[in-house]
Amino acid sequence: PSGAARDDDGRLVIAGRDAASLADEFGTPLYVVDEADARGRASRIRAAFEAAAASAGTTVTIYYAGKAFLSGAVVQWVTDEGLAVDVCTGGELAVALAAGADPASLGFHGNNKSLAEIEAAVGAGVGAIIIDSEIEIERVAAAASRAGRVQPVRLRVNSGVHASTHEFLATAHEDQKFGVALDRAVELGTRIRAHDSLDLLGLHCHIGSQIFDSAGFAESAERLLAAHAALARVAPLPELNLGGGFGIAYTSADEPAPIEAIARGILTAVSDGCLAHGVPVPKLAFEPGRSIIGPAGVTLYTVGTVKPVPIEGGVRHYVSVDGGMSDNARTALYGADYSARIASRASDADPVLVRVAGKHCESGDIVVDAEYLPGDIAPGDLLAVPATGAYCWSLASNYNHVPRPPVVAVRDGAARVIVRGETLHDLLARDAGLEPSDTTGA
Ligand code: LLP
Repeated sequence: PSGAARDDDGRLVIAGRDAASLADEFGTPLYVVDEADARGRASRIRAAFEAAAASAGTTVTIYYAGKAFLSGAVVQWVTDEGLAVDVCTGGELAVALAAGADPASLGFHGNNKSLAEIEAAVGAGVGAIIIDSEIEIERVAAAASRAGRVQPVRLRVNSGVHASTHEFLATAHEDQKFGVALDRAVELGTRIRAHDSLDLLGLHCHIGSQIFDSAGFAESAERLLAAHAALARVAPLPELNLGGGFGIAYTSADEPAPIEAIARGILTAVSDGCLAHGVPVPKLAFEPGRSIIGPAGVTLYTVGTVKPVPIEGGVRHYVSVDGGMSDNARTALYGADYSARIASRASDADPVLVRVAGKHCESGDIVVDAEYLPGDIAPGDLLAVPATGAYCWSLASNYNHVPRPPVVAVRDGAARVIVRGETLHDLLARDAGLEPSDTTGA
């Protein structure tokens, strides 16, 4: 996080607290979130899009995508910073509502929402349900009509644009589970409008994640605007939601464009497209998750073993830590790149090639695939892995009966637990084959 630095003894300091004292107080593995950093990113993204939208004569709503990491505290931070919240299951909806989010500011996603989830969202009065398939039109309409409500909805459309990092690919057809085909958007939008219990706000599109510039969003917006304009000519269509996906730097090799430039690029494409189609520029909405919470998070681990393994042309040092793929599945799942630093001390030792591995029973259990760390790295050292705020806690598991670590927020040197860590008791208590007396835990 931007608040991370070293103190005079070479210890890593996060938002005014030194990492070693956090590890002493809360144990490791530990997810640490820099609250001011997360809030700052939320407000910077909002300001960037508000400025770009204002110069295009429109307004914008930024939804925080809760799938990246959702907890009561985070809902409060992002709503304080003027963001709405995007949820995609009944569980995420429950967290947002319990944290006091205004239901009218929530968006509810999902390609296979259960009837119970649709009813919960309608009953709570969520601001928009994103309709993801033809079948769902009738389901949401029926639930809204049973509840005696008019439910605002968006229609999720596949623009055919797939973007990730600095490349995007545009195809005519999409072979994936989300949304409806672009060439059916007008027909299905019209079908939504035929229901008295539904209010069509606009089209929605999400083209991918970890995207570094505006080109993919611009291409997607251009494609969507023909359908948007066709629907807008029949009746007002106030909104266009272009999803989330702004990329972050996981390592020094990643260089996402500044969000201000991305915002300007997208807004230029949208206003040019609207001019070409002869329709007013709609209100815009975006749903970033990773770019708000990802860089604000650091995971702290304690080194347990160090094992030099001869490889072609040298030695690879396997540094095994007290967590792994149960608290960060992204390396194993996506081949994600992370970096690591010794957090508990400075060292002048020459760097050696390191692979940070976890404690799980498989060789793919890797946290950082390749990193150079001081050659004197040893058991007991504290290791920090930055940029773990998004899709780490939210993808965590209990693989090998490892309890999930706590999440601690730090602000101005003060730390507090925002999500309690699991204990062995928590894990054993769910096992119906154990007597309650066996579940006191170790
Ligand atoms: N809106 C929709 C409809 C989405 O599906 C997503 C992410 C977002 C917004 C937020 O995207 P973001 O700004 O966070 O990139 N587990 C993967 C990422 C999955 C993203 C799923 N959808 C990872 O760890 O890289």
